[in-house]
Amino acid sequence: MIKIKKKKILLLPGDGIGPEVIAEVKKIINWYNQKKNLNFEIDEDLVGGCSYDKHGTPLTDEVFYKALESAVIMLGAVGGPKWDTVEFAKKPERALLKLRKELKLFANLRPAICFKQLVEASTLKPEIVSGLNIMIVRELTGGIYFGEPRGIKPIDNGERRGTNTHTYTSSEIIRVARIAFDLAKKRSNKVTSCEKSNVMEAGQLWKEEVQLLHDNEYSEVELNHMLADNCAMQLLRNPKQFDVIVTDNLFGDILSDQASMLTGSLGLLPSASLGAKNKDGEMRAMYEPIHGSAPDITGKGIANPIASILSFAMALKYSFNNDKESENLEQAVQAVLDDGFRTIDIMSKGKKEVSTSQMGDAIISKLK
Ligand code: IPM
Ligand code: MG
Repeated sequence: MIKIKKKKILLLPGDGIGPEVIAEVKKIINWYNQKKNLNFEIDEDLVGGCSYDKHGTPLTDEVFYKALESAVIMLGAVGGPKWDTVEFAKKPERALLKLRKELKLFANLRPAICFKQLVEASTLKPEIVSGLNIMIVRELTGGIYFGEPRGIKPIDNGERRGTNTHTYTSSEIIRVARIAFDLAKKRSNKVTSCEKSNVMEAGQLWKEEVQLLHDNEYSEVELNHMLADNCAMQLLRNPKQFDVIVTDNLFGDILSDQASMLTGSLGLLPSASLGAKNKDGEMRAMYEPIHGSAPDITGKGIANPIASILSFAMALKYSFNNDKESENLEQAVQAVLDDGFRTIDIMSKGKKEVSTSQMGDAIISKLK
């Protein structure tokens, strides 16, 4: 059993714009070390395509062990067209999936918040999205992403068959639903659970277990069940009806991408992947922007670091239990947006266009 070092933060910038945005997070961590003596211990290493290029694997054992002893992993992004032809088991994305699975990071929190300064950036009408604040809780270590059997095999008639298995156990459903109910209690007290119970047994089990947990322990929280396809539609029709959405790995992947676009820019949205607490109350966690590696803008110094910086704000809150500094950082981001600073992805007329590092510096200058 590898012990978690309470103050250890492992930076895994990864590929594409990952290194550019994580560099800004590093500046912020250093600020906290210098100005607030928070004593974070930083380490940094390779993950994804860059690791494959150097070591022939997207995640070396050495980095994996570093991850195991870290309280927090700050991940940038993995993947890109350069590695499209790499064999499946060595694709950059496998590193991410291995970290999620082996560190047991079963609860993925993906907030979709529409910043008041950026209401116009959404493709939806302002009245539909202004004030939007949804939390998607995506199950992250089960379902069709990991179910067995899986694979591609030749079959008798000369064709091949690709197989993946969608499977959930009661405990996998209950532990993630519990996270959703606990979060809802601190928000607007409403959970929408999404599945396809009309066509899948695993979906029916999902619905039953969430309902049972609700009736036994969380009856004060409002619970609604919704079919995942309907949820996709409702997110566009009337997204403000949602508070917390809890759903499985695959639906969560899709619905969170959809929800993110309601907010105008992928460049702003953080995420947290949390494990279970051990008997000492410690847990492993990984934080990452949801925007991905963005190969088209890599190396230009124009990527928006806000999603990564807000991911660190989530780390302050969920891993370091420091709500005060988490809010401080979130407010610094707001203040910079109020001042009109914009990276190109959120640029609009009359605002000041800034680079990745200028945005990072501006946010630091607002920290109290
Ligand atoms: C995400 C991504 C990943 C996923 C990929 C990169 C493996 O789309 O985090 O949403 O499918 O989970
Ligand atoms: Mg995705």
